[in-house]
Amino acid sequence: MEKTDNGEVLETQSTQTAETALPDDVLLQVNDLKKYFPVAKNFFGKPIKFLKAVDGISFTLKKGKTLGIVGESGCGKSTMGRSLLRLYDGVQGEILFDGQDVAKLKNREFDKLRPNMQMIFQDPYASLSPRLTVGEIIGESARQHHLVDKAGFHDYVLKVMDMCGLQPHYFERYPHEFSGGQRQRICIARALALQPKLVVCDEPVSALDVSIQAQVINMLIELREKLGLTYIFISHDLSVVKHISDDVGVMYLGNIVEYGSKDSVFSHTLHPYTKALFSAVPVPNPHVKMNRIMLKGDIPSPVNPPKGCKFHTRCEHCMEICSRIAPEYREVEDGHFCSCHLYNSEEDTLRLLAQADENERNEAIAAEKEANKPWNKAKAKVTTACKNVVTKIKNKFKKSEQTEQQPQEQPGQTEDSNVEEK
Ligand SMILES: Nc1ncnc2c1ncn2[C@@H]1O[C@H](COP(=O)(O)OP(=O)(O)O)[C@@H](O)[C@H]1O
Ligand code: SF4
Ligand SMILES: [Mg+2]
Repeated sequence: MEKTDNGEVLETQSTQTAETALPDDVLLQVNDLKKYFPVAKNFFGKPIKFLKAVDGISFTLKKGKTLGIVGESGCGKSTMGRSLLRLYDGVQGEILFDGQDVAKLKNREFDKLRPNMQMIFQDPYASLSPRLTVGEIIGESARQHHLVDKAGFHDYVLKVMDMCGLQPHYFERYPHEFSGGQRQRICIARALALQPKLVVCDEPVSALDVSIQAQVINMLIELREKLGLTYIFISHDLSVVKHISDDVGVMYLGNIVEYGSKDSVFSHTLHPYTKALFSAVPVPNPHVKMNRIMLKGDIPSPVNPPKGCKFHTRCEHCMEICSRIAPEYREVEDGHFCSCHLYNSEEDTLRLLAQADENERNEAIAAEKEANKPWNKAKAKVTTACKNVVTKIKNKFKKSEQTEQQPQEQPGQTEDSNVEEK
């Protein structure tokens, strides 16, 4: 609340919290984005355990550019894309879009902004209503957001369809009559009908044949140039990301571990995980030997991620510091960010080791304090008593089993043996 000179009280709360200035060429700035899913609750229904799908992501995206996001399945790519568009509740961090903090906007304010941020999903069939015609699917949201009136609806939809390579007579047809590639074009047309500034493409070609993939990717590139769109392009296919992106972010267990321009990330890779990921891309030359870096084990659970660097359980360069403290995400080269202890200066390593010592001391003190709480002491006593009882019962069973298994002496057996002895 703010008072004017003549004493009027102005409602300024929403602008104070939601409006943030960004440089003119920046469309999106994300600071410390987090999305935790509750996976266990206590007796009173309060969440006590979380799956950290997105665990503190920051990046800046310029207008008209494409940010490619790569990483293994389950590393949090889709959750990040959906969180940016507020498709989940309980998202933490700042999402500064076109001067407004999306995370702090009230629902009514965000509804006005929603057409500007659209998403294209991996499965084009699941995201299309089977009961609506193609024309209705494409134009429905545009009509709801008053981007087109009743009289201009048909022409408007036909124009969008034409941009996306869909023939005019598809207007009255239904999604099940189309191939996967055409269905994905319908999804793209539906998103573009809302005249968005940002489009989050979540694996948009993964479910398509390779020949169709190229057509859809090239169409997305053409539309970006023509309409001045900005993309976040999520994919596990590195060649596709290399083709379409300006910048690349590599995700591992909910974090971006390397980020930079496409050229710097592909030609001067810094992070051991990115190197392993890139080494798995097949080279289309039979004379070139692939130096594949094999990662140990599976991706750890995001419910209990490893302490320190989350990649240390699989990293061939793992050092002592790696399992003790998480590396800092810092600009290693101009515009090229990475979180790995390999790029620490000597002072950084000493400072981080000192911090690790202090963290471990604090953890030990906290653990001792927790164990000394009366409730926990009583719990420990009961647990020990229960364990003792169980061990006693087990031992008893073992003894009785042993006595049952001992061979019964047969009558006459002793006599025979005595005879033999004689
Ligand atoms: N709604 C949900 N509830 C609980 N866990 C989820 C939910 N959605 C995704 N996850 C978990 O979050 C992690 C990241 O998932 P996702 O973002 O889909 O990964 P990616 O797109 O990189 O394959 C996975 O471990 C997944 O199981
Ligand atoms: S911090 Fe250590 S474990 Fe993590 S990627 Fe770098 S070298 Fe490997
Ligand atoms: Mg996904």
